[in-house]
Amino acid sequence: MTDRAPAHRMTYGGYLQLDELLALQDGPEGYSPAPSNDEQHFIIVHQAFELWFKLILRELKEAHALLNQKHVPEEHLPQMVHHLDRVTEIFRLLSNQWKVMETLTPQGFLAFRDKLGTSSGFESWQMRELEVLLGLENSQRMGGMDPLLHMKKLAKEGKVTDAVLADFETTSNQPSLREALSSWLARTPINGSLVGSDDDAKVIEAFVDGHIAAMKAHGEDVIAHIVAIGHGEEAPVRARVEAANQQAADFLRPEGEISRSRAGLLFIESYRELPLLSWPRKLIDSFVGLEQSMLLFRSAHARMVERMIGRRMGTGGSSGVDYLDATTKYRVFVDLWAVRTMLVKREVLPDVEQAGFYGFTANK
Ligand code: HEM
Repeated sequence: MTDRAPAHRMTYGGYLQLDELLALQDGPEGYSPAPSNDEQHFIIVHQAFELWFKLILRELKEAHALLNQKHVPEEHLPQMVHHLDRVTEIFRLLSNQWKVMETLTPQGFLAFRDKLGTSSGFESWQMRELEVLLGLENSQRMGGMDPLLHMKKLAKEGKVTDAVLADFETTSNQPSLREALSSWLARTPINGSLVGSDDDAKVIEAFVDGHIAAMKAHGEDVIAHIVAIGHGEEAPVRARVEAANQQAADFLRPEGEISRSRAGLLFIESYRELPLLSWPRKLIDSFVGLEQSMLLFRSAHARMVERMIGRRMGTGGSSGVDYLDATTKYRVFVDLWAVRTMLVKREVLPDVEQAGFYGFTANK
């Protein structure tokens, strides 16, 4: 016998608040005529997406709280990876969820599309908040749109609540995940040198110059090989290799000064076999994986929309598919993508200095 009265037993429906949840798929109060089967499908798919967005935001905020610190303990890295990898999987699932949306025919959609008025996924504040939390720059957005200004305007018009605006402002006014990641990378011990130590600037200069020299030497081998096998003339191949070398030099020294954050990133990616660098590299990879799955999600949405409405204008007033395709060009973690272009195979890199600092002496 349990001392709990049956009336207090936790039930499935009670725990999940199913009565409340399942009463929300018929449109807003007084919505008329009641949604058809096609329209209810449309509502449920949207609501399912928004629920997943809610979880994505929660996961990203957990990762943000761990990363946006002056000192990030090593044992927090696996936790961050855990949160980010969950978001990656959610986006992967959402990419496939468009398939359910596609069971709506273009004519089936037109039957209720006018009822939507100017409402559009463009107004999804959770989607905007997660972009801001990740660190998408306004300069990358179509028309340089400022989501915070937009949210303020909507709040003033009574179209989003003050609580939503307050949450959005909190996210907008703190360093984004991209910025927090960059600060953390800037503290990477490079060739055993810690940020702030006496000869740190000299060590970092030597590391960056050593890497660029390795790139150049490897580039010469590539040019010689391509010319030797008759795969191209030297001049155009050389121009391409030298342009890539220059790009790397500019990347590592933006405005003439070394970026310690980018140098740290390059160091972690180059010497990933060092035990102390394996979790940092895994963390970087989790950010790349997340952004990749988000881009595939954006792209799958655009393909679904093209199938549904062709090239017509969106209900939100954008150019529709052209706008959505432009969003697939967005990159939040610009440095993480850029560094890939300048990696050099391990055998031609200088040996790491003070390898013992990172766990054990590295073998090439
Ligand atoms: C018949 C189904 C759908 C069509 C035809 C459609 C169409 C569009 C179009 C044309 C836009 C561009 C903005 C505009 O002018 O309206 C847009 C944006 C958007 N849609 Fe959809 N959509 C559909 C379903 C969904 C669903 C189920 C979601 C899930 C929440 C969603 C989320 C979004 C988001 C977040 C944006 C903003 C994208 C951005 O600005 O980066 N859409 N949609």
